[in-house]
Amino acid sequence: MEHLILSKKQIAKITADIGHKLSKDLAKEKKIPVVIGIMKGSMNFMMDVMKNLEVDVFTDYIQVSSYNGTKTTGKVILKRDLSFDIKGRTVVVIEDIVDTGVSMNYLMDFLKDRYHPKRIILVALVDKRSRRKEKVKIDYAGMILKEDEFLLGYGLDYNELGRNLPEIYGLTNKEVRKLAGKINKEII
Ligand code: IMP
Ligand code: MG
Repeated sequence: MEHLILSKKQIAKITADIGHKLSKDLAKEKKIPVVIGIMKGSMNFMMDVMKNLEVDVFTDYIQVSSYNGTKTTGKVILKRDLSFDIKGRTVVVIEDIVDTGVSMNYLMDFLKDRYHPKRIILVALVDKRSRRKEKVKIDYAGMILKEDEFLLGYGLDYNELGRNLPEIYGLTNKEVRKLAGKINKEII
């Protein structure tokens, strides 16, 4: 895995920058804003951004799963809902990567329809725009990935593996196949 996409240093800079910008953006909120992490991929990123926030925030988590089978548009299901009502509050949604945009589109509609927040600010570490199918407005992006490649590490997984890597790597197809072989020997 020699193809480094984001080093620890770059991640530290990105999370500090986003944290400071968000702090300014959230400074005048009357009600305490809620930072929502999308499980599980954005956990590392969420915590690092949070450490750079200079305003009071509540935190919550939501989990969705996307299934990209044979159909062109993936089907998204909600696996875990929020634990409290965010009605009328500004929410900051933290995502690891926006790829086709299908999951994020679903999540945005879900949050708006079900909770009626005051506004939603979307933060994504990686904007993989080459594969975008549905329009997504990302307010703060850590980086734009122009190539269509598979990323692993710092929360990003391949079938639940690799989330613990401290940096982000781009995988060749051969490396993905190697990982797939490793997983086949294990039952999660
Ligand atoms: P989308 O619905 O196609 O935008 O996919 C969103 C989800 O797919 C992300 O939140 C990730 O969990 C996962 N995903 C997309 N691209 C990658 C990648 O390169 N590495 C790991 N996970 C990815
Ligand atoms: Mg995700």
